[in-house]
Amino acid sequence: DWTSESFVETTVAQLKEQLGNDHVIMALSGGVDSTVAAVLLHHAIGDRLHCFFVDHGLLRKNEFEQVLDSYKNMGLNVKGVNAKDLFYTKLKGVTEPEAKRKIIGAAFIDVFDKASKDIQSELPAGVEAKWLGQGTIYPDIIESVSVKGPSATIKSHHNVGGLPDYMKLQVVEPLKTLFKDEVRRVGKTLNVDPNILNRHPFPGPGLGIRILGDITEEKVRILQEADDIYIRNLKESGWYDKVWQAGTIFLPIQSVGVMGDERTYEHVVALRAVGSLDGMTADWIHLPYELLAKISNEIINHVKGINRVVYDISSKPPATIEWE
Ligand code: XMP
Repeated sequence: DWTSESFVETTVAQLKEQLGNDHVIMALSGGVDSTVAAVLLHHAIGDRLHCFFVDHGLLRKNEFEQVLDSYKNMGLNVKGVNAKDLFYTKLKGVTEPEAKRKIIGAAFIDVFDKASKDIQSELPAGVEAKWLGQGTIYPDIIESVSVKGPSATIKSHHNVGGLPDYMKLQVVEPLKTLFKDEVRRVGKTLNVDPNILNRHPFPGPGLGIRILGDITEEKVRILQEADDIYIRNLKESGWYDKVWQAGTIFLPIQSVGVMGDERTYEHVVALRAVGSLDGMTADWIHLPYELLAKISNEIINHVKGINRVVYDISSKPPATIEWE
């Protein structure tokens, strides 16, 4: 029967055989799947694996620096790419959720194209990276098939099948037969940083689909601060590991409040925490009132621009985990 140790052993051997002396390029997301896939590839081909990690300006607070550090500690060959301005410029004034996803997906491909050309140009003469590494797992394949019915695409998941034909790279996907819990077990066997292994799923378009309506740098900053307080409190109270996914949503409305003798008219954020096995269905989590009270006070007292916090009590279906 299946063990993570035997999976690692057979997969590394297969990858060695499949890849020979070839080089592989890979975009990492900071998530469990791409990281575990990269570490497996690194075991098989060492520094012939060339990774990069893109800051699209829609990551969590300090996430770019923290993730790059943990990659370096794991010995991965990773380059950080700051592409914030490109994404903010392309997203300016765009409000429709699928339009935002498409813009983010397309901008990501532009950055990917440039980063992979940069990596190619540094390879020794005559050596070409022919492979693209991806952290696709089994449910990604199932979901992207099931949402693409003849009727409509429910939400386009831009990390599946997203690359255009002109990038003639062959795809290597060492995790495509595994479920999330198996990926975590494999990661543990490979000594992947527990901060990455136990991370909640985070969508590719990042905070871009958690800021409802148009995206500005100021909204990103406010949301990052509020989200940082929320996630830190979940960790400190022991709730983070009991929750499948949690996040903060910036609502496209302002509401009236009072501060001292002054009337305020500021932003509202919603907190979301769900339990799930695979993201296909989800139940909202009954976080303790005391914890919600502490988080709400901290956000309202410390994050300038927010005067109201609400808690999302909807399950999937009919709601989705993300609001866009
Ligand atoms: P929903 O909102 O559809 O989310 O209930 C289910 C899971 O998928 C993630 N999600 C995405 N992941 N690109 C991604 O890579 C996307 O566009 C996207 N939309 C949703 C979501 O965070 C949840 O884990």
